[in-house]
Amino acid sequence: MRKRIAAGNWKMNGTSAALAEISALAQAHPGPRVDIVICPPATLLARASMTAEATSILLGGQDCHAEASGAHTGDISAEMLSDAGASHVILGHSERRENHDEASEDVRAKARTAQAAGLVTIICVGESLAQREADNTLDIIEAQLALSVPDTCTTDNLVIAYEPIWAIGTGRIPALDQIIEVHDFIRLDLTTRFGAELAGATPLLYGGSVKPDNAAMIFEAENVDGALVGGASLKEADFTPIIKALEASF
Ligand code: PGA
Repeated sequence: MRKRIAAGNWKMNGTSAALAEISALAQAHPGPRVDIVICPPATLLARASMTAEATSILLGGQDCHAEASGAHTGDISAEMLSDAGASHVILGHSERRENHDEASEDVRAKARTAQAAGLVTIICVGESLAQREADNTLDIIEAQLALSVPDTCTTDNLVIAYEPIWAIGTGRIPALDQIIEVHDFIRLDLTTRFGAELAGATPLLYGGSVKPDNAAMIFEAENVDGALVGGASLKEADFTPIIKALEASF
């Protein structure tokens, strides 16, 4: 059976004090039935990995460079993330695509490098509000998948996160049937490209305004295997009910 994942994307939030949230999460979930992956800012990763040592909490980066090393001031390589304790990395988040002009081809190059470094790549896709209103959602997702997901994927290094841009940080979420439609489409797309075994093993996450009070509804969708959570992952007290809703959903 494929993994269920509750991933927390802390974005540019958190200094030393936030490490206490990781300890609290570890205490609240001593034997989770799902993978709990916290993606803190890079500055906290090494200390977070010490805090998470001997617990069930996994760690991820929020981005990495497409090249393995070299003259790239300010950037972080996949190997550095791994060395600092990360097992996962988020790639192609819409904030990176928008604020840093990342094209799907860039995301694919990063994913290839990250997978070669042994990281599980959480590749994000999602449409804008204008694209949804123009009824282009599935075309956009199809193109993003085709160009962002590298050929180097295996049954254990790929996670896809569907994050409608208009749902991120807005408190708005799609209707359940819209979530089902896109996740079913992604599973089918992966099946066509990679075959049933890889597609069946790949966790598909929903992201965008996942909160304690809507998580159970979102996890009703058969092809939703977890969530990528921003704001509600910053505090253990908010993230725990989402993790519990995921555990209760299968
Ligand atoms: P949000 O962010 O949960 O705060 O909407 C989700 C994300 O951007 O991954």
